[in-house]
Amino acid sequence: MCGIFGYIGPSAAAPLLISGLRRLEYRGYDSAGIAVINGDLDIYKKVGMVKELENILPATVKGNIGIAHTRWATHGGVTDANSHPHASEDGKVALVHNGIIENANALRNQLRKRGIVLKSETDSEVLVHMINLEYQSGAAPLTAVRRTLRRARGTWGICVIFLEHEKIICARNGSPLVIGIGEKETFIASDPHALTSHTQKVIYLEDGELAVLTAGDVKTSRNSGKIVDPTIHILDDDWGESELGDYPHYMIKEIHEQPDALRQCITGRINLSDGTGRLGGLRLSPKKLQAIPHVRLIACGTALNAALVGRLLIEKLARVPSLAHVASEFRYNDPVIDAKGLYFVVSQSGETADTLSAVKEIQTKGGTVMGVINVVGSSIARQCGAGAYIHSGPEQAVASTKAFTNMVAALTLFAIQIGRSRTLSRQNGRALVKGLREIPEQMGKYLSNQGPIMEAVEIIKEAKSVLFLGRGISSPVAREGALKLMELAYIPCLAYPSGEMKHGPIALLEEGSPVVVICPNDELKPKVLSAIHECKARGAKIILICEEGDEIAAEADVSICVPNTDPLLSPMLTVLPLQLIAYHTALELGLNVDRPRNLAKSVTVE
Ligand code: AGP
Repeated sequence: MCGIFGYIGPSAAAPLLISGLRRLEYRGYDSAGIAVINGDLDIYKKVGMVKELENILPATVKGNIGIAHTRWATHGGVTDANSHPHASEDGKVALVHNGIIENANALRNQLRKRGIVLKSETDSEVLVHMINLEYQSGAAPLTAVRRTLRRARGTWGICVIFLEHEKIICARNGSPLVIGIGEKETFIASDPHALTSHTQKVIYLEDGELAVLTAGDVKTSRNSGKIVDPTIHILDDDWGESELGDYPHYMIKEIHEQPDALRQCITGRINLSDGTGRLGGLRLSPKKLQAIPHVRLIACGTALNAALVGRLLIEKLARVPSLAHVASEFRYNDPVIDAKGLYFVVSQSGETADTLSAVKEIQTKGGTVMGVINVVGSSIARQCGAGAYIHSGPEQAVASTKAFTNMVAALTLFAIQIGRSRTLSRQNGRALVKGLREIPEQMGKYLSNQGPIMEAVEIIKEAKSVLFLGRGISSPVAREGALKLMELAYIPCLAYPSGEMKHGPIALLEEGSPVVVICPNDELKPKVLSAIHECKARGAKIILICEEGDEIAAEADVSICVPNTDPLLSPMLTVLPLQLIAYHTALELGLNVDRPRNLAKSVTVE
């Protein structure tokens, strides 16, 4: 989603802004722009990729202060005019904005009444005119921004530059901003990935805070005016930009990184002799775990699918009622929050606005919420204050892969941990943690011999729609397979628990319709087999994901086998062929696998 980068220091700003934007490209965007103080306020913006913006930049952009933006359209179409930065009418103030100004229409009308002509359809543009009106009336830059934000409703991460001042003013409310402190130079970005090649020293701006950046110095304050003493964090080296290496795309690289990523997630978190898992960051003793009356997991997209696996595991292994919720619905359904319950939010980026809102809702109502998060120091991780990192390393492809398997692994560890505080025997716990320890190697084994993926792709690539079926723990895996194929190949996909298929989706089936069935060797297999027969009787083509050596393979048109494991651990293996099917289908259709249309890596608006 939208990205921000800014620079103030001794170096030429423009090349740094462009390289900063490049590092934000993976988030997904449709246009890009920069503003640099270069005698005048020079602004260049363009629909398309950062390289297209770079192509229109003249060599004469020499200034040392600048702000830059990648836009993912929310208000107004994808046009040059709607791209950021936006400038005041006199060209003395420029602004970039992430987030949504909810009262933009009312503010627009007020500006029009004062004779101001707005050049874009965006909500963001109102801010720059309002700031300039305050500035023209004599307010200092920081005061002008502060007064403007007091009248705005919504979310923002903004950076503002003033032609007549050597500073960048930033403010955050619901949209992340991270300040990078270098030697006599200062950076700002919406994402720490963009800073790691310049500095490891960062300050996370909090909601309701503003910062004044000068070369090598930062002053932070609250919107009320109160000065804040910022905490300097040191970024982890692991969060640097990951290189593609020999891989053609980030997605396939990240699919192949899953064995190592999983090792990172489970290392040090397994106690084999006690047959338990231990997520230390939760700070939950067995006594506390025993007292938890129910668990709720909240997330979006792929993280929600992982949460759905997690909730089944928790209920099965610990006999604790457990539910997963769609984050975007959670807050608006006015949920009852039980202070004794345990709430988890699950997120790769740790920046998803819907999930962050759920955290705040739970906290406002007195609940305890913990994060299961990939990005260290992200907004959700910091807002929760406790939880477990999944340690996938940077995930750059828009389609989430290695984060899914690690979310499932972390939740499996938790399910075993809470299970052992209750009904799960040491023997059964040991069998599970042993099985979990073997998964990375089994993943590697499968990835080095992937089975007839391309045969499945042949059946799927021209299909009008694809039905994904699974039962029990494989039902969320079916959802994940459908989500992957839909987001990458733009093929309408439905995912259903296989028993539910006959209650509706069966009407879609005709000669040749592809049906992807996930069927590990568990007690539900006979039931899934019935669904396969019902589909075949209607002419459907079955693509089956099953376990090695299982005779059910003979029932399908294409069978893709994964190594044998405990059925409760199977999602970490059965999902692999589904990721590969989505990847190769998109490639066959000539689509951009790493940056599918309309999607963003981290969805920072509600
Ligand atoms: C996954 O392939 C998607 N791009 C998307 O559904 C994603 O999982 C969702 O937006 C949640 O993101 P998060 O894990 O960063 O919170």
